Amino acid sequence: MSEVQWNEVESYIAGRIIGEDAALSGALDAVEAAGMPAISVAPPEGKLLHLLARMLGARRILEIGTLGGYSTIWLGRALPEDGRLISLEYEPRHAEVARANIERAGLSDRVEVRVGLALDLLPLVEADAGGPFDLVFIDADKASIPEYIRWSKLLTRRGSLIIVDNVVRGGRVTDGNSEDPSIVGTRAMFDLLAADPDLDSTAIQTVGSKGYDGMAFILVK
Ligand code: SAH
Ligand code: DHB
Ligand code: MG
Repeated sequence: MSEVQWNEVESYIAGRIIGEDAALSGALDAVEAAGMPAISVAPPEGKLLHLLARMLGARRILEIGTLGGYSTIWLGRALPEDGRLISLEYEPRHAEVARANIERAGLSDRVEVRVGLALDLLPLVEADAGGPFDLVFIDADKASIPEYIRWSKLLTRRGSLIIVDNVVRGGRVTDGNSEDPSIVGTRAMFDLLAADPDLDSTAIQTVGSKGYDGMAFILVK
């Protein structure tokens, strides 16, 4: 099956049921115009994040890896008026583009982008969150995924959901000899999930405009 077909099916699904609007498509346009990488989640994935946050009744959301705020907007739109989303981003330029996109989406009152290395910011997030996060979306450097999972456990509660993007990487996740830090980090995440009795999880393979990849879904028990 060809990537052309994956793209056609994604466009079909998006055209029928995703409901992307000017703020979302404008965010992707701004990412492209700024010369930032085309690694925002695909529209059906963004909608999945949004629906899951609504199903959970999420009031506090943590995102690690903002880029231009495309996934941030999908997640932020699931929040009630008094809800809060904190998104962590290393690149000041990305954060700047994201903040403008979030402003255009009318979400500046509940969404905050913080600039720095996520592992430096996470200890501060703990103090400011005002309670445990209901949902964490991990989508930054893949080498640090195990540490992000450990932090997520500290910052969530029983019943919270942790979602991790890019856990398949064209199938390279199965290569136990890989020295690519992204693959090593992702495989260490699967080892951690297999061994942790406090976490229950699955992972789904995805195809579409972002190629062949996948997402992990982790319930904090
Ligand atoms: N979640 C976004 C895509 C994020 S791309 C979306 O789907 O729309 C990954 C982002 O993580 C990039 O912007 C990159 O600059 C950022 N990043 C990489 N390493 C990081 C780190 N150590 N701390 C914080 N952000 C990081
Ligand atoms: C990369 C990062 C992502 O978050 C993504 O969705 C796709 C690719 C990357 O760093 O290559
Ligand atoms: Mg990603």
